[in-house]
Amino acid sequence: MKKALLLLLLSSALFAEAYTKADRIKDMQIMAESMSQIQTGFFYNNNEIVQDGALKLSDAIRRVQPPLEETEEKDPMTRYMNQKVVFSNKITKKIDQKAKIILERFKAGDMPQAIQAYTKIMKQCMECHSQLRTW
Ligand code: HEC
Repeated sequence: MKKALLLLLLSSALFAEAYTKADRIKDMQIMAESMSQIQTGFFYNNNEIVQDGALKLSDAIRRVQPPLEETEEKDPMTRYMNQKVVFSNKITKKIDQKAKIILERFKAGDMPQAIQAYTKIMKQCMECHSQLRTW
């Protein structure tokens, strides 16, 4: 009985690790929503809406991962050389940084910088899509 429970816990812990294609699509949809939320916040000049959208975006982009078979590559050199992993890590980091800039600049009343960060995020989304959408 105890053993079965342990196994169950163990397997669910293992499953929690795997980032699936379905997870990715869900996070993508959250990010698309967050982007329109941020935009709405800009239009209504509403800091709360912008902050909430930027935090949601940050939260989702931190979860986004390349396909498992690439991250599970045993040989570190091959993994390092793997273009998709390197490429997507760079882009997700940039998006996270820009989301933080939106948070800070909009709160400070610096609309031009907040908008610029937003535009840069948009470019990063499209950049990844044009290169990696076939995952
Ligand atoms: C690291 C690469 C990467 C980045 C960065 C990225 N995407 Fe995606 N996106 C993908 C991939 C890959 C798919 C296709 C998902 C699949 O079918 O596995 C996708 C699909 C989508 C979809 C369609 C989801 C669906 O319902 O099928 C939306 C919407 C989306 N992305 C929004 C965004 C937004 C908004 C951003 C920027 C904030 C963004 N993506 C940034 C890789 C990325």
